[in-house]
Amino acid sequence: MGTGSTKKRVFVWERSLRIFHWVNALSITILLITGFYISSPFFGARIPEEAYYSFVMGWARYIHFFFGFVFIASLIFRFYLFLVGNQYAKSNPLKASFWTGVLETGKHYLFMKNNKKHYVGHNPLAELSYWIFMGLGGLIVIATGLFLLFEPQPGTLLGSSVAWMTNIFGNSANIRGLHFFSAVAILVFVMTHHYFVLRETWLERNKTLSSMFTGYKEMDDPGGSDDEPKRKAN
Ligand code: HEM
Ligand code: HEM
Repeated sequence: MGTGSTKKRVFVWERSLRIFHWVNALSITILLITGFYISSPFFGARIPEEAYYSFVMGWARYIHFFFGFVFIASLIFRFYLFLVGNQYAKSNPLKASFWTGVLETGKHYLFMKNNKKHYVGHNPLAELSYWIFMGLGGLIVIATGLFLLFEPQPGTLLGSSVAWMTNIFGNSANIRGLHFFSAVAILVFVMTHHYFVLRETWLERNKTLSSMFTGYKEMDDPGGSDDEPKRKAN
């Protein structure tokens, strides 16, 4: 860590990645709220009345399904950014250096002796959490969500394209449970993500928090990092 006077502004997150981030974050926030409402309605009409007048559950479901597709679109767009994005939008867990980076960053977070490098973009442990919770978790929540959505129409193309899932998971209740479980896992990710963003911003003094709005971080010595910026800001 250096003093403010030696800091240099570095462009890290392209506009397209920032747009992905905020669309993704917005959709997940709304999916979590509406999803947990569907699971266990935490408010509604105070007096018994026709559902027609308030229709809270109906709206929660409509909104959930709409943002379900926004979430799917955001992840497809993110995979496209792997192909066309700048170096900070890419990640390769097949490289050995990725896993040594995960180990050293883990030791750093546990306040153990470590050889963690200075990363301008995501550190490998953060990348691993994105792969697990957004990649794998996202895939599970989408597959199970589409099953729950189209299960009531078994005769249709969409209904039959998700029906195979009962062969793997047994029955529809298990698939609903898996959808719920992956939603909880994503909630845990969101909470720890906020902790790490704040921790990084505070301890490294590198403007991590504002970087997802501006695209820029601050760093001490660009020459000492392992990943230099290669593109202009947009
Ligand atoms: C981050 C993503 C998502 C989260 C956090 C989430 C969360 C939830 C939760 C907690 C429930 C209640 C489960 C229960 O009954 O116990 C639920 C239900 C449901 N979700 Fe999601 N979900 C997500 C994505 C999706 C997607 C992508 C779709 C499909 C487009 C989807 C479709 C559904 C459907 C159809 C139901 C059942 C609604 C009902 O029974 O009325 N979800 N979701
Ligand atoms: C529901 C809330 C949120 C979700 C689901 C979320 C999700 C994500 C994901 C998936 C990434 C990886 C980006 C990529 O390369 O594709 C990311 C990175 C990042 N997010 Fe969030 N985010 C949320 C809230 C926030 C908030 C409130 C901030 C603070 C302003 C923030 C700041 C950042 C930053 C700075 C990074 C890059 C950090 C790094 O790994 O170096 N996020 N977020």
